[in-house]
Amino acid sequence: MSSDIRQIVLATSNHGKLAEFQYLLSNHNIKILPQKQFGVMGVEETGRTFIENAILKARAAAEASGLPVIADDSGLEVDALNGAPGIYSSRYAGNNASDTDNIEKLLKALEGVAIAERTARFQCLLVYLHHADDPTPVICQGSWEGSITEAPRGNHGFGYDPVFFVPNMRSTSAELTPEQKNGLSHRAMAMRQLAEKLTDAWRST
Ligand code: IMP
Repeated sequence: MSSDIRQIVLATSNHGKLAEFQYLLSNHNIKILPQKQFGVMGVEETGRTFIENAILKARAAAEASGLPVIADDSGLEVDALNGAPGIYSSRYAGNNASDTDNIEKLLKALEGVAIAERTARFQCLLVYLHHADDPTPVICQGSWEGSITEAPRGNHGFGYDPVFFVPNMRSTSAELTPEQKNGLSHRAMAMRQLAEKLTDAWRST
């Protein structure tokens, strides 16, 4: 197996995600380069699915950098809202919405919905592109089941973490330590699969 350090661009400008990926990819002989190093600040997410948006992000970063790229598109699906906010999770309360704005809108939309009906999950679609014209991207998916609380709790994480209740931990994902969240989350599940696939592929080169 080659022990060379591989350089991979991470197609995200979200600081929360960047920190999680850095943790999840430590010990994998991978040096993560943020896309902003190549002047990419983000792309318009015009896809209708997580996977389409992940590929759009990955391709833009691969074109700008000339390097392999990992991109994720992720979001929260709430059953009582027919899967919303879904692919619109980061802009649920508007294009420049803060995490607090999005959470407020979500809690309002769920007002009066009983605890048992507040089931939800985080989805993460990960794409690895070897280069911008790669016709066979590596694709991995992770889902994390939980439910939506009636009020925010906890200070860790980002996005909807303060209202995402993780049943077997009896806490919101914002109350988990980063290490706990990175052992359980949708992103961790998808990233573990991707690391395995890449390690296998690199072992045979
Ligand atoms: P994206 O950058 O278009 O993939 O947006 C993903 C959005 O989904 C984030 O801005 C958050 O609002 C939400 N999200 C995704 N993963 C998480 C997570 O691990 N915790 C909390 N919110 C998340």
